[in-house]
Order: sequence, then C-alpha cells, then structure tokens
Amino acid sequence: MARRIQIFDTTLRDGEQSPGIALQPDEKAEIAKQLERLGVDVVEAGFPGASPGDFEGVRSVAAAIERPTVAALARTVRDDLDAAAEALSGARRSRIHVFIATSPIHMERKLGLEPAEVLAQARSAIAYAAERADEVEFSAEDATRSDPDFVARVCRVAIEAGATVVNLPDTVGYELPHQYARFLQNVRHRCPELRRVTLSAHCHDDLGLAVANSLAAVHAGADQVECTVNGLGERAGNASLEEIVVALKIRADHFDVETGVDTAQIAASSRLVSDLTGYVVQPNKAVVGANAFAHEAGIHQDGMLKDARTYQIIDPGDVGVRMTLPLGKHSGRHAFARACAERGIHLQGDELNAAFRRFKELADSGGAVPLEAVFEGAPV
Ligand code: KIV
Ligand code: ZN
Repeated sequence: MARRIQIFDTTLRDGEQSPGIALQPDEKAEIAKQLERLGVDVVEAGFPGASPGDFEGVRSVAAAIERPTVAALARTVRDDLDAAAEALSGARRSRIHVFIATSPIHMERKLGLEPAEVLAQARSAIAYAAERADEVEFSAEDATRSDPDFVARVCRVAIEAGATVVNLPDTVGYELPHQYARFLQNVRHRCPELRRVTLSAHCHDDLGLAVANSLAAVHAGADQVECTVNGLGERAGNASLEEIVVALKIRADHFDVETGVDTAQIAASSRLVSDLTGYVVQPNKAVVGANAFAHEAGIHQDGMLKDARTYQIIDPGDVGVRMTLPLGKHSGRHAFARACAERGIHLQGDELNAAFRRFKELADSGGAVPLEAVFEGAPV
C-alpha cells in the first residue's frame, strides 16, 4: 500500500509572513475552510504570540474547521506557549508548534544561547506545550545549517519531552535536493527515535529549490511536508503545495505515496488565496498559473487538438481548470480555424487562407489577437 504523506499547510502562518499580507480573522477562517475542502491534514493558522490580530486569527480558524488539525506556532517562551494554547482551545484537534534555532549562526548571533541552553529550552517548552495541546510539533530552525550531531541530540530531547512530530527545516533555502535528502537520513541515523514520530520537511525557495527539496525529502522518508498555497512565504516563499501534491500524484510511479488532497480543489484554493492576500500568481507558474494549460505554438496546438497527451502531462480538469489555446503569432491554421468555428465562423479554402494571413499580420505586431480584429469589426 502507498505510504500516506501528511500535508501541513502553513499558508496562514509562514505564507502570511510574505511582506504586506495581513489577513483578518474572518479571512483566515474562509481560507481555512477552503483548505479543509482541499483535504490538507494540518492547517497552521498563525503565531498567536506575535500580535493580538494573529491570536484572533488562530482562534477563528480553530472554530471554523473540523477535520484538519489546527496548529499554532510558538517560541520556547511561556507567553508564546500560553497564547498558542489559549488560541487553539476551540480546535477539534490542536497542535502547538514549538521552534528554536539550532545552527551556530542563529544560536550565537540571534539567540545568544549556548547549545546546552537550547537543549534545555526545547525540553521544557515541549513538556509544557504537551500538557496544553493534543500534540506537539518541534522544529529545529535552520536545521540544515546546523551540526547534524547536535540536531540529532535536540531531536532526541524533543521526542523524550513529548513531541510527536519533528520538523527539520531548510529555513534559508540553502540545500540542494540530494543534500537535504542525505541530511534527513543522516539525522535519522544518529537519532533512531525519529522512526517513532512523524518526520517533517519544511523548505524555502531562496534558490528556487523548495519543491525539489520537499520531493527529495519525501523520497528520503519524510512523512509530512510543510507548504503553502501559491508558494507564498518569507522572502522567495515556501514550497508550493499545489506543485508538491501534483508532482507526487503525476509521478506516483516514482514516489509510491499518496496524500489526502482533492486536487480538483487546487484552482479554487489558489484563486481564493490570491484574492484575499492580493498576491497575484505569475502567469507561467506551474499548476496554477494562467498559462499552465495554455498552448500557443502552432505545432503544440495541432498536437493538442489531435491528442492532449502530446503536450500535457497533467489533466487540467484534475486541478480544477480548463485547457486553452490562445491565439498569438505562433498559433497555427488548425487552432485558428477551430477558434473561428467556436464563434460560429466556418471558413474554408481561400477565405480561411485570407483570414489566417490577416491574423498573422496582426499577431506579429504583438499580444493576443481578438478575432474581432481579424474580421475588422464584422460581427463574430
Ligand atoms: O522556516 C522555518 O524554519 C520556519 C520554522 C518556524 C518552522 O518557518
Ligand atoms: Zn519557514
């Protein structure tokens, strides 16, 4: 049987950390309900200790959804842990997500802590959180720039203190896919207790590798992937949920895993997140970009009209969108004639040749060509 990968959606927490986004509690609840329809396993709703607005946001998500676990982020300090526990109190199933950095640069320059102090803080915060939520996830921030031996020690402490999910983030998006896979295996080798808990991957896109790294993590045995709709997130963003889920589905031959995501809900989720955050999706973005299923070149359009498998590996209907054949300077006669016919203009022979010549002249001057322009105002 295929291994089940948990999809941990952090659009409302790490995604909201994109500059300029401040979702209101009712907007967070609306997105969370769509994420529930999408079928994610965990909704990370925010960082309640960060602001009163985020506290309310987590509270409203906890009240709005039923099936997914609701997670809230917290540092290892009491105020954060108390705020997370209180904000999550209405959730059907709650998870406090405790994090502390483990890399030398973060421990020395940001936290001013010795490794032993980090170990002690992780232990006491996780034990405290475990008494206040249904489950605790621990993240070793900047894990990939940390000493694997130290990360393994922190993981052991976290598991002893009650964490049932351990996340090893590539916080600054530094790793290459094979390195991230090796890092996870290395830490698991040094801390075999990780086999008893859910091992999670969390990747950022600074080098454009967040999705590749997340897939490498799945291949290396990670059971949970943390990601965001449209790849929103700090700096260059987090790993994109839709790209990961669709890659796991389309390349099931390679991964042999499954998720609980209903891919038909992907387009609606992407649109809602884009509308409420104001972050426009780039047209050529994989899976959810406006051009992801648009075929412009004549050779491609001809192939698509004969058999969609010629140029399409994803059925657009599977992700809730339609294939389009936009007319432009690269389009062919076949697609042009079809577009005309769809508008009730049935052309053949010389008539088709003349209209197609006119269309190419207009297309060469740039941009998409409306059929109206080809027929010079004739009702089409
Ligand atoms: O990128 C990161 O390390 C994080 C942690 C807080 C999980 O977002
Ligand atoms: Zn992150």
